[in-house]
Amino acid sequence: MSRVFVTRNLPGTALEELRAAGHEVDVWPGFLAPPREELLERVRGAAALITMLEDRVDAELMDAAGPGLKVIAQYAVGLDNVDLEAARERGVVVTHTPGVLTNATADLAFALLAAAARRVVEGHDYVRRGEWKTWHPELLLGPELHGATVGVIGFGRIGQAFARRARGFEMEVLYASRHPKPAAEEELSAARVGLDELLERADFVSLHTPLTPETFHLMNRERLGRMKEGAVLVNTARGKVVDTAALLEALEQGPLFAAGLDVTDPEPLPADHPLLAHPRVVVTPHIGSAGRRTRLLMAEMVTGDVLAVLSGRQPRFPAR
Ligand code: DGY
Repeated sequence: MSRVFVTRNLPGTALEELRAAGHEVDVWPGFLAPPREELLERVRGAAALITMLEDRVDAELMDAAGPGLKVIAQYAVGLDNVDLEAARERGVVVTHTPGVLTNATADLAFALLAAAARRVVEGHDYVRRGEWKTWHPELLLGPELHGATVGVIGFGRIGQAFARRARGFEMEVLYASRHPKPAAEEELSAARVGLDELLERADFVSLHTPLTPETFHLMNRERLGRMKEGAVLVNTARGKVVDTAALLEALEQGPLFAAGLDVTDPEPLPADHPLLAHPRVVVTPHIGSAGRRTRLLMAEMVTGDVLAVLSGRQPRFPAR
């Protein structure tokens, strides 16, 4: 029997399977992340950790778990909070949840694009405030989706799924990525261009890169300033890919018309943050993968891989 520590409860019955296999499963009961001191205490003696993107999974945490730690299963595809090198040095296997959340995240990215461009939240607030007095030809105009050019930065699974949705709206797709993706180019009639050209040509820009030292503040003042007048930025990747101060400036002084953000920096975003005072910023609380089925599948993936490693088998979804 091994001890498994889980930093938040998971939906569905996947954790039961770990218990049924004879493991001791300790689940942090809070809705909020365990405070650091508590986390370091609770992981002691664990052979497996199931972690979330808000947990700092570093050498200190691994050492607090002790030499019996075999596997860290991250309940997310992104691994920017996990020190993979520290895990490698300690012989700890790291797994994550790629693939299953692709469509849910692309759906939300497209929803944010449409909501920000067509002023859905602003319109809703306007109605709620009792300001809807008449139909008017100039009320709440926004950029059209149909026929627009969309620029996808990062053309992996989620970027391509997002582009598929954009094609459904008859948008032209440009993408910027380190490597060409010929199959996706053909399927989506997408053109690979340099980042600067993408920013200069796209009416909508959607971010789908992981957070790495290279993508930290990728959308800085200079790049945001290159975007087309009236463009819309969508971020469902990681908040720190965008420089928040520069984003605010681009929204207030141009060229940006609106932004749809599922991830922010800081995250969570405090209710009095200036971004939220901007009428054309739509923010959701990092719920890209929050489809019911997706979250159940993610739970099965992490518990399946924990079971695999604890019984000496290869995990199905190792971090690469
Ligand atoms: C991820 O998986 O990295 C998302 O941000 C959360 O599901």
